Amino acid sequence: MADLDNVKDTKDYHFDIPASNQAFFVKGAGALDWGMQNRLARIFNPKSGRTVMLAIDHGYFLGPTSGLERVDVNIVPLVPYADALMLTRGILRATIPPAFTGGVVMRASGGPSIRKELSNELLAVDIEDAIRMNVSAMAVQVYIGGEFETQTVNNMTRMVDMGNRYGIPTLGVTAVGKDMVRDAQYFRLATRICAELGAQFVKTYYVDKGFDTVIASCPVPIVMAGGKKLPELEALTMASRAINEGAAGVDMGRNIFQSEAPAAMIQAVQAVVHENMKPAQAFELFQALKRKQAADLGV
Ligand code: R5P
Repeated sequence: MADLDNVKDTKDYHFDIPASNQAFFVKGAGALDWGMQNRLARIFNPKSGRTVMLAIDHGYFLGPTSGLERVDVNIVPLVPYADALMLTRGILRATIPPAFTGGVVMRASGGPSIRKELSNELLAVDIEDAIRMNVSAMAVQVYIGGEFETQTVNNMTRMVDMGNRYGIPTLGVTAVGKDMVRDAQYFRLATRICAELGAQFVKTYYVDKGFDTVIASCPVPIVMAGGKKLPELEALTMASRAINEGAAGVDMGRNIFQSEAPAAMIQAVQAVVHENMKPAQAFELFQALKRKQAADLGV
């Protein structure tokens, strides 16, 4: 029985303070349930409203690509600098320390390898297994204009329905197949379809002209995919432009883990995304951190 001795009278009702009813900070997410908002807040930093996601899911169709040969050796040291990780369940279980408290965005579609038609994907994770791993979101690739367009859209909408049942957001990933045009018109189409069909956030590539129109016409946050490896200053400049034009963050892979100094690069990207640091200054930060790391290692 509960201890009923010395039960104090209630008195602090703070009649002068209205109950707070704050708007949720993620674009388009105001009407979502508490669990879904909480998961989005594990991905998007509530202070800046933005995210630096580290994408390491490439192996699901590429195998052990350069920089990801040994995730335990090369990637685990970067994990403290990422707001969220984008990865497969296999890599999560096998290599990522469960003490990681950032967001986990799980690659939830797959099937074909680089040797086959890439758009022929199916869902590749059961929602129960994702819940078991306490994920923050599920990522599904959508090939608008691709050979298996309808199938991949259907993968995403099924995942949205399952995610809505359990409070898990879905990230729609706009894929560009080998022959697809990458311009603002294409990405307006692809991102808007993902959002209209229920994705709570969308990942897409940066385009030099009209990226702001892609952001403006998408009712949920867009995170910029990194794309092929660029020299560090160019990659930081691209991230900075995307942020200035309204992106809610980046989901970068090769431009971080294939950098000559990945830990320095992800910290420079963090400065661009969360502190609006200018690309030239972020590049100086990258070089300074790279020199420090070399000095620490005695090389
Ligand atoms: C590739 O298919 C993966 O989905 C990656 O997550 C995505 O392309 C981002 O990685 P990167 O910055 O290397 O393009």
